[in-house]
Amino acid sequence: MPETHSSPEEDKSVLQIWGKSSLKGHVTISGAKNSALVVMAGALLCPQDCRLRNVPSLADVSRMGEILASLGVKLTRQGDVLDINASYIGQSTAPYELVSQLRASFFVIGPVLARLGVARVPLPGGCAIGARPVDLHVRGLQAMGADVHIEHGTVNAYVKGPSRRLKGAKIYLDYPSVGATETLMMAATLADGETILENAAQEPEVIDLANFCRAMGAKIQGAGTKTIVISGVPSLHSADYAIIPDRVEAATFLVAGAITQSEISLSPVIPDHLTAAIAKLRAIGALITPESPNCLRISPGHGLTATDIETLPYPGFPTDMQAQFMALLTVSEGDSIVTETVFENRLRHVAELNRMGADIRVKGNHAVIRGVPTLSGAPVVATDLRASAALVVAALAAEGKTTIQGLHHLDRGYENLDTKLQKLGVKLQRLQGDSTTEVETAPLTPIAPN
Ligand code: EPZ
Repeated sequence: MPETHSSPEEDKSVLQIWGKSSLKGHVTISGAKNSALVVMAGALLCPQDCRLRNVPSLADVSRMGEILASLGVKLTRQGDVLDINASYIGQSTAPYELVSQLRASFFVIGPVLARLGVARVPLPGGCAIGARPVDLHVRGLQAMGADVHIEHGTVNAYVKGPSRRLKGAKIYLDYPSVGATETLMMAATLADGETILENAAQEPEVIDLANFCRAMGAKIQGAGTKTIVISGVPSLHSADYAIIPDRVEAATFLVAGAITQSEISLSPVIPDHLTAAIAKLRAIGALITPESPNCLRISPGHGLTATDIETLPYPGFPTDMQAQFMALLTVSEGDSIVTETVFENRLRHVAELNRMGADIRVKGNHAVIRGVPTLSGAPVVATDLRASAALVVAALAAEGKTTIQGLHHLDRGYENLDTKLQKLGVKLQRLQGDSTTEVETAPLTPIAPN
């Protein structure tokens, strides 16, 4: 299954974008990364075949595949269809060298513990955007009767007793963590008795995971609300499930349309998943019209106007869209304040946007953005996944050429972004290694918009 994706160390490729692009046409949105990753982990709960559809081709998805394979799972991929068979889990320990490269791999702890009664998963550790502790995951599993202790950087969990089965429990989450909600919901599907998760995360990806587990026979109610009730069952059965479209990718293309004052359409999307983003785009001045139940069109209004944004758990404004919207606000008339409340270190794109001529000042977790008439192309470095997307959309609106380094961040979460942008009329090229070698994928002149 593994596709080749460059590791951070060997990632010398750069993306060159010629700005002041006018976008035109339609873009197809891929399956959701943050749903595919956890649903793949969820397949560990099932001793039979599972077929997943609309699975995006991303570095993170390949890595999750490698981690499942290291536990003994069989995986085969055909296009965006992924067949997973976890009838035999030969290993209860996830390998550090793989887990350290993908935080989401910590999601395997719930399903492996629920299936085998024992699981050892290295601590995922912090990343560019924050410390990312897993205390809520651990405390929830302990409440379900697991003995969990952290030793030598590994979370060791096991369930005592003859059945080695977790027990249903009432768990209040101090913070509506997406990952902790997903870990505990998965663990509870095979537990003995009922589990009630209070102050649970309500993100669409949590609902998608619940729907996948229900397709395998799990008994889950209330996903998408603050209270999720899971009645444990002895075992689950095979399922054929399609992953939801990626709302963060969709929002990134909507911002690309707004920042270039272009008219484009995108599908498949689930507009309800984009409520906060659409509200902010309209406040900034873009026109958003539903073309059909799963297709949106963005077109220019009367210029771009400043607005304030505060990131919050769903249904609040998503932290994964914050950087892209900040890029848009750099060329929106007036002063905007962006407040990041979910992660403690997610304003690192500010320095690179200022390198492109933006006027942003940071104070704690607030960024004050004074709109400027235009940005100018410059060499910039991506510091994390969504920061890289912000630099791409900023480059689309900038005068001249922008050269973006750190593309391994981008490739973790955006499928075929280069080609999708070229189809919308963007002039770009990806250069490998010593920057003189042009990569085959990127002809210089844009592809005629469809
Ligand atoms: C998921 O991360 C997403 N990742 C993130 O997307 C997204 O930003 C985040 O949810 C919030 O929406 C995946 O789904 C793979 P959290 P997760 O647990 O589950 C604190 C992207 O760009 N916390 O909701 O790790 C934590 O430190 C990525 O696609 C604890 O304190 O997010 C953070 O401040 C980035 N203890 C806050 O909660 C815990 O045990 C939110 O984290 C768990 C979390």
